[in-house]
Amino acid sequence: MTTVRDLQPVLTGTKVRLRPWTADDADVVYAACQDAEIQRWTTVPSPYTRADATGYVTTFAPQAWEKGDAVFAIVDAATGDPVGSIGAHGIRDGVAHVGYWTAAAARGRGLTSDALRTLARWCLREAGVARVELVVDPENRGSALVAEAAGFTAEGTLRQWLVVKDRRIDVVMYSLLPDDPAVKTP
Ligand SMILES: CC(C)(COP(=O)(O)OP(=O)(O)OC[C@H]1O[C@@H](n2cnc3c(N)ncnc32)[C@H](O)[C@@H]1OP(=O)(O)O)[C@@H](O)C(=O)NCCC(=O)NCCS
Repeated sequence: MTTVRDLQPVLTGTKVRLRPWTADDADVVYAACQDAEIQRWTTVPSPYTRADATGYVTTFAPQAWEKGDAVFAIVDAATGDPVGSIGAHGIRDGVAHVGYWTAAAARGRGLTSDALRTLARWCLREAGVARVELVVDPENRGSALVAEAAGFTAEGTLRQWLVVKDRRIDVVMYSLLPDDPAVKTP
């Protein structure tokens, strides 16, 4: 049986391409992850060192694929530049859990919502996933809008569900299913 690990596909959205990370991307990841918003809302190490970036693209991401997860660089299709990261974890269990960040300079152009829509459709249409989910801090309005723009449904609040930067927080759970309009429509 062909597995996600064998596929490592390049996915094509409207505004972005999603491709596996390469060692050459370490500088981009290092620069992007200095950003206060990425530091605040995600679980990336803080402070974020060059070794963290190198480890991410050369070890963490390839090992994720080995495990059957999928971790992609978000590439701006207009320029070919990598501008963010998006990953789906737990694909092998049928419930993929997605996380993402996008470099500050590339925000506000719909790149992340296109990346999320593209990844989720691939999970649900081609990778055997039954449910794609993600969780958002209720204060992270931008991330909630990304989920909604990609067609996800807010299911409710999970109390004290996640630890981010030593803080245990409530999260809003979002999901997308194979029969949802964002997946059914071409
Ligand atoms: C949240 C984040 C991924 C948004 O990336 P982005 O590329 O700017 O998102 P998009 O351009 O696809 O935005 C989708 C919609 O949300 C809106 N939006 C995005 N960020 C917003 C913000 N901070 N405030 C208000 N609206 C915002 C956009 O205007 C857009 O609206 P539209 O559909 O009406 O045009 C980015 O700000 C980021 O990386 N933040 C730090 C890391 C993070 O929070 N990750 C998610 C953890 S759950």
